[in-house]
Amino acid sequence: MTQASRDWWRDAVIYQVYIRSFADGNGDGEGDIAGLRERLPYVRDLGIDALWINPWYPSPLNDGGYDVADFRDIDPRFGDLVQAKSLLDEAHGLGLKVLLDIVPNHSSWDHRWFREALAAGPGSPERARYIFRDGRGPDGALPPNNWRSVFGGLAWERVTEPDGTPGQWYFHIFDVSQPDFDWENPEVRAEFLDILRFWFDLGVDGFRIDVAHGMVKNMAGPDLPYDESGLLDRPSIADHPFFDRDGVHDIYRGWREVADSYDPPRLYVAEAWVEPAERLARYLRDDELHSAFNFGYLKSAWTAADLRRSIDDSVSTLASVGAPATWVLENHDVERVVTRYGRDVTAAGTGHAGKAKGPVDVELGTRRARAAALLMLALPGGAYVYQGQELGLPEVLDLPEGSLQDPVWERSGHTERGRDGCRVPLPWSVSGSSYGFGSGGAWLPQPAGWGELSVEAEDGDPASMLSLYRDGLRLRRSIPSVEPLTWIDETADDVVAFQRGRGFACVVNLGATPSTLPAHREVILASGPLDADGRLPTDTAVWLAV
Ligand code: NOJ
Repeated sequence: MTQASRDWWRDAVIYQVYIRSFADGNGDGEGDIAGLRERLPYVRDLGIDALWINPWYPSPLNDGGYDVADFRDIDPRFGDLVQAKSLLDEAHGLGLKVLLDIVPNHSSWDHRWFREALAAGPGSPERARYIFRDGRGPDGALPPNNWRSVFGGLAWERVTEPDGTPGQWYFHIFDVSQPDFDWENPEVRAEFLDILRFWFDLGVDGFRIDVAHGMVKNMAGPDLPYDESGLLDRPSIADHPFFDRDGVHDIYRGWREVADSYDPPRLYVAEAWVEPAERLARYLRDDELHSAFNFGYLKSAWTAADLRRSIDDSVSTLASVGAPATWVLENHDVERVVTRYGRDVTAAGTGHAGKAKGPVDVELGTRRARAAALLMLALPGGAYVYQGQELGLPEVLDLPEGSLQDPVWERSGHTERGRDGCRVPLPWSVSGSSYGFGSGGAWLPQPAGWGELSVEAEDGDPASMLSLYRDGLRLRRSIPSVEPLTWIDETADDVVAFQRGRGFACVVNLGATPSTLPAHREVILASGPLDADGRLPTDTAVWLAV
C-alpha cells in the first residue's frame, strides 16, 4: 500500500449516516443496515470517500444510541453483526471506507456493567468501573457537588442500594441514563482497547470518538460557576474538571498503537468541543488521533471576516502538528445550515439546535448554504457532509411536542426542544409512504412538502442542491490536494477568495453588492447564476480555472 493510499483520510469527504433516519429496509419506521445497504450506490454516486455511521449498538435510545448497552453488538432494530459485515464488504467493494462511532465516556444504564455496579453495592470492584460517590450532608442526601449535566439538571443521580436504602450518587455528564465510566480504572481502559480490536477485526476502517475530550476527570475539583446561557454552553474556565484534561492524551497514545497495528492502519476522528484551536491540535499530535471535527468553523458566522479568520486559524494551527484541517457545517447535534444561515444571527451556539432564535428565510439560507458548500469543498483538508445536507433539508422547527425524543426536551423542563429537528428521516421519493424512507412510516414525523426535497425530486435537476454537491464532489478531485491555500488579496473585504496552486480559485461574495471576479480562464462551477455583467452576486460562490 502506498503512502498516498494510507493517507486517504487527509483530504477525504466523509458522509455522516444517522442510521435511524437514513433508510428503513424492514418497514418498522426506523432506518437500519438493510436500508443503508440498499442505498450504498446512492452514497457512492455522491462522490464521497467514506461513511461515518452514528451508533448502532444495542441501546434503549434514550440519547439516540449514544447510550450504549453493549459495545460489541448491533441493536436488533438496526440489524445484526452478519449484516454489518456484509455492509462493510459491500462498501469496500464500492471503494468506500466505513467509520463507526465509539462512545467511551459513558454507557447506558442498561449496560451489564452498570447493572452489576448497582447490584454489588458501595466499595465493590463493579462500582469502581463508574463514578460513584457518597453524597454530602449527614445522611448523604445532597449531591457530591454542583456540577450539571450538559442536557440540563444535575450531573449526579442518587441510587437505591441493594438493601433498599437511599445510597450513593453516580456521575453523568449527559442524561441520567448515561453513567460515566471511571477512566482511572485499568479495567475500563483495557475493555475499550478490546472493543476497538473487535470492530477493527471485523473490517471497520476507523472510529469517530464521542466526547473525545471528556473521559479524564478531576472529581475532587471545585463547584462550578454556571449561568443560564444554554445547556451545552459549559463554563469556560481553565482547568475544567471534566473536559479537555491533559490526562486524556495518554489514552489516545494507547489507542493509536492499536490502530497502527493494523494494515492498513485504522483512523480516529475526534469529536472534541475544545477551544482554542491550539488545544484541539494537541489531540492530533503524531502519536494520538488523526483528525478532528472543526467546530470552530461550524460555529462561524456567515461573514467574510469570520470565515477567513477561522480558515486561517484552523489551517495554521493544525499544520503545527502535521494534521490536515477539516470543514463541517452540519451534524446530528446542530441546526441544519439552510436554517441557520437563513437567520439574522448566523453563528451557531455551542453545538445544539434547541432554542427559538427568531425568523428564518429559507430561500436566503439555501442560497448561502449552496455557496458554503462550494467554499467548504474547495478548502484544503477533509470535509464532512451530514445526510440530507446534500438535499438542502432545513431544520424541522415545528415537530409536535409529543414526538420529541431528545433528552434535552425533558431535562430542560420543556424549555429547549433539542436536536430532533435535524434528525427527521430522509425523503427519498416525491410521494408515497414516508417519502420513500420505508414502508412503515417514519419514527419522527416528516413535514408536508418533504417530497420536494427528496432524492427523486432533485436527481437530474441541474439547479438542485443534490446536483451541486455531486458536481462539487466530482470536480473537487481535480483540485490539487497538495496545494496550500493562498488568499487573493485584490478582492473586496467582504469577498472570500483564494487559490489552490496556480490553476484553481474559489471566490465567495458575502457582501451586499455584486463583486467583480478576478482574472480567470473559465468558471468551473457556480452556486448560482452570475449577473448580466459576469459579476458575482451576493451569497454566491464560484470555482474558477485561473
Ligand atoms: C455527542 C453526540 O454527538 C451527541 O449526539 C450525544 O448526545 C453526546 N455526545 C453524548 O454522547
